[in-house]
Amino acid sequence: MENGQGVMDLADEWGHEELIFVRDRAAGLRAVIAIHDTTLGPAVGGTRMRMYPSIEAAAIDALRLSRAMTCKAAMAEMAWGGAKAVIVGDPQRDKTPVLIAAYADVLNRIGHFHTGADMGIDGGDVAALGRLTKHISQVPAGSSVDAADLTAIGVVEAMRATAAAMGANQGDLRVAIQGLGEVGWRLACRLASEGVRLLVADTDGAKVRRAITELGARAVSTDSILDVEADVFSPNAGGGILNDATIPRLRCRAIVGAANEQLAEPRHGDLLHDRGIIYAPDYVVNAGGLLSLLYETGETDEPGIIARVTRIGRTVATLLERSETDRLPPHRLADKMVEEKLAAARKILTSSIA
Ligand code: NAI
Repeated sequence: MENGQGVMDLADEWGHEELIFVRDRAAGLRAVIAIHDTTLGPAVGGTRMRMYPSIEAAAIDALRLSRAMTCKAAMAEMAWGGAKAVIVGDPQRDKTPVLIAAYADVLNRIGHFHTGADMGIDGGDVAALGRLTKHISQVPAGSSVDAADLTAIGVVEAMRATAAAMGANQGDLRVAIQGLGEVGWRLACRLASEGVRLLVADTDGAKVRRAITELGARAVSTDSILDVEADVFSPNAGGGILNDATIPRLRCRAIVGAANEQLAEPRHGDLLHDRGIIYAPDYVVNAGGLLSLLYETGETDEPGIIARVTRIGRTVATLLERSETDRLPPHRLADKMVEEKLAAARKILTSSIA
């Protein structure tokens, strides 16, 4: 429990609309789906599969991540609401075709939650789900656009804006990347092609070796990636990485990464601010994956979606500038902007009903 609160108390406090617990014993499926706020549009959010110490811990993760999706959609100017699903289990061991089919069945029964890939769910799983349900995002076959790459493009542009705020050029940066998965690897490739010097860590040694040989990266242990000297620390693995234990260790000037829910608590963003470390808010930086929906639904074409994702850089630049003038840490300012957007949308909804 977070601060001793129960899951339902947290859902109340954070304003969640629905919290759905799923159990299908025959299929070995245990999952939680959280729908946060659909003021701006229908519920959307990825599905994550990983081990959790308890179903309560999984529910809290779903609550946090779905709230972040609401913020992400609002800041990316998208007409979607925030939601998220977590499947409890080890993706290597427990992800069977029977489990995937049972999960597709759940999505069909719920009917108002649209999902996609997140940690532990890969392109193969998405394709398998896509044969059984329409409630899953898939870019059209043969397309060169993919959600993880769009996410990486957004991170690159957010980093460029952050470098400018620090008075530096992107190509002169040293970037410490934590996690070389679907997003982290693509990010590393893109940064390396701009001449950025990379320090990389992953629990999977094969990914690190590949980054050394193909990108000229320097390997760092998964522990020392937190205190290696670098201009930018880029978290691209799990959440909660910015906390009481890690913040005093950081030796970077800025944090820009794709991982969701990087701050263990909002006060950790204040701690970073006090230390003079620029924190580019995760849900602004990593909106590229969500934006891919615009391409998938035919709202824009390939150049259009790249241009839209590239705009993340401008949003980050504006946020960092306003953070200076308003004397408010960037994460607080972003939360405030989201609240204002939601309040304005609620007002329009209420007046159209009245
Ligand atoms: P992934 O599961 O493909 O990659 C995560 C990588 O981190 C893996 O290579 C794993 O071995 C590594 N890792 C795990 N623990 C680690 C540790 N302690 N130290 C170093 N490396 C570690 O996940 P993916 O899809 O790349 O997502 C990464 C993060 O970005 C997640 O937080 C996800 O929620 C977020 N995100 C992903 C999007 C997408 O389009 N895939 C979109 C927006 C956010």
